[in-house]
Formats: sequence, structure tokens, C-alpha cells
Amino acid sequence: MNIKPALYEVLYVSTLAPQQPLSVVAEIAARARVVNAELDITGLLVFDGQRFCQQLEGPQKAVLKLIERIRNDPRHVNVEIVHNGPLAGRRFQQFSLAFSTLEDVDALARMERLDGQAAVAAFDEVCAAIEL
Ligand SMILES: Cc1cc2nc3c(=O)[nH]c(=O)nc-3n(C[C@H](O)[C@H](O)[C@H](O)COP(=O)(O)O)c2cc1C
Repeated sequence: MNIKPALYEVLYVSTLAPQQPLSVVAEIAARARVVNAELDITGLLVFDGQRFCQQLEGPQKAVLKLIERIRNDPRHVNVEIVHNGPLAGRRFQQFSLAFSTLEDVDALARMERLDGQAAVAAFDEVCAAIEL
């Protein structure tokens, strides 16, 4: 019998560390796509020029291990996990890590102050505003 591990998701907001060139964002996304695909993790990374928002989904253990590595990455600061928990179905089936910039610079600042379902609702709004 083929039992799939339960899906889990994490959503956080963080800020690009001072002195980091914008080019690190592309470096992070390119490397992350390869690693996430290997880990059966999918998700979305959004960057508004200052803040990141990232959603990661996949097998719980793999997601929790990865988020721990990401939290300790000095290329960003103020990592605020706004939601984590089980997930019924993947939001980003076809992307190991979708990437988008975001024009609205207030959206991630607002999301940083939310948690739980309010944060997920704000994330849904961001997803609707961007084109993947
Ligand atoms: C905003 C941000 C998002 C990241 N997203 C991912 C990701 O989705 N997948 C990934 O493997 N690494 C991601 N990284 C990079 C990890 O923090 C880390 O550098 C990478 O997993 C390599 O870890 P290692 O040096 O312990 O091998 C991200 C880093 C930042 C700053």
C-alpha cells in the first residue's frame, strides 16, 4: 500500500538583511527550486523589494527541517512565522518554488502583523494580486 505522508504548510514574512544586494534574491530562488524538488516541497516566494513572504508545503518533517534552515539564513532578518499547520491539498502543485515580485509594499508589512487564518486570508489576497 502506498501511504503518502500528511501535507503540512508554513507561511512566514521576513526582511532582506541590510547590505544584501538584490541579486541574492535570484540566487536564493534558483537554488531553492532544485532543493525543494528533491524534497517534494512546493511553494511560493514573494519579494516586494524589502520583505519576503514564503509559503512552503509538503511532507511535514521535510517542511519543518527546511524552515529551520531558512530561519537561520543570515540573508534575511525578522523571520515571523504567521501560520503553520496541516494542509488538505497543495496550493502550488506545479511549482517547486514559484517566484513573484509584488508592487504593493504595504501588503507584506500588514501580513507580518497577522497570524493564523487572518494571515492565510492575506496570503490568498497576495496570490490573487500576482500573476504566476
Ligand atoms: C527568503 C529565503 C527563502 C529561502 N527559501 C528556500 C527554499 O525554499 N528552499 C531551500 O532549499 N532553501 C531556501 N533558502 C536558503 C536556505 O536558507 C539555505 O541557504 C539552503 O537551504 C542551504 O542550506 P545549507 O547551507 O544548510 O545547505 C531560502 C533563503 C531565504 C533567505
